[in-house]
Amino acid sequence: MSKVQGPKSSASDLGPWTLDFGPGRGPWTLDIGPALAAIRARWSGQAPFAVILGTGLGELADDVDAKAIMSYRDIPGFPRSTALAHKGRLVCGTLGGRPIIVLQGRCHLYEGYRVHELCIPVRVLASLGVQTLVVTNAAGGLNPGYSVGDVMAIDDHICLMGLPGLAPLPPICRERIPRARTRLYDEGLIRRAIDLASASGFQLQCGVYVGVTGPSYETRAEYRAFRRIGGDCVGMSTVPEVLTAAGCGMRVLGLSTVTNVARPDAPEIVSADEVAHVAATTLPKVRQIVHGLIAG
Ligand code: HPA
Repeated sequence: MSKVQGPKSSASDLGPWTLDFGPGRGPWTLDIGPALAAIRARWSGQAPFAVILGTGLGELADDVDAKAIMSYRDIPGFPRSTALAHKGRLVCGTLGGRPIIVLQGRCHLYEGYRVHELCIPVRVLASLGVQTLVVTNAAGGLNPGYSVGDVMAIDDHICLMGLPGLAPLPPICRERIPRARTRLYDEGLIRRAIDLASASGFQLQCGVYVGVTGPSYETRAEYRAFRRIGGDCVGMSTVPEVLTAAGCGMRVLGLSTVTNVARPDAPEIVSADEVAHVAATTLPKVRQIVHGLIAG
């Protein structure tokens, strides 16, 4: 059983927390104060809008009129990206004249991080005033109606990351999820994204994301099973960030770029290089949605 000790409530739910998962598994103190101080030393703005850029989408950060760019390495407590095509930089500035924070690259459970470490950047975003978060990722299509190069808005997710009992949300965050909303992914943002896509001449898919730990891609049996339980896409990220963001009261839009489509009866080899390459080709679509959302 995990024990969480910390201040009672208010903004202090973003303050230090001690997590104890039992013998040999803790305690860990989660304190985002040093990370915030390092960012505040470089940037004093507020941004209600943030984007996490997943595999192949890092170039979108170049659209930002940047006031501060920091490597995750220089932000205490931030996990460092080691995965292919993840730069690991925090970019603060404006996009189309509106304040924005971009996380250029992310970290994954398969890099050896614990789930609470992956949640630190999102909790920092909450403390910097972020209310709307767009989370992007590369994913494998499970829905046979999807094509490589499609983009899917995440309507909901199925978590197969083995997180239950491990996700270290402070009690106030745990309370907020069921109380504040009946869904994690904001319906209004999904509708707006669908409209923006159609105004730009493409169809945005909308479906269920299956979150797995990886790092290996799925077996044919797994692809079949994930489709049967209701998945439209499968990927190795996003779920911990979304749970944290929703717990901090943010509105969340999830976008998956479909880099390969599973054909269990005629399997093809999936490689990380190919995934990154194909994800990058979907950048114009993701760009249209992000620019449109921030413009309001
Ligand atoms: N499975 C899991 N993660 C992925 C895939 C996949 O097929 N494609 C891109 N990310």
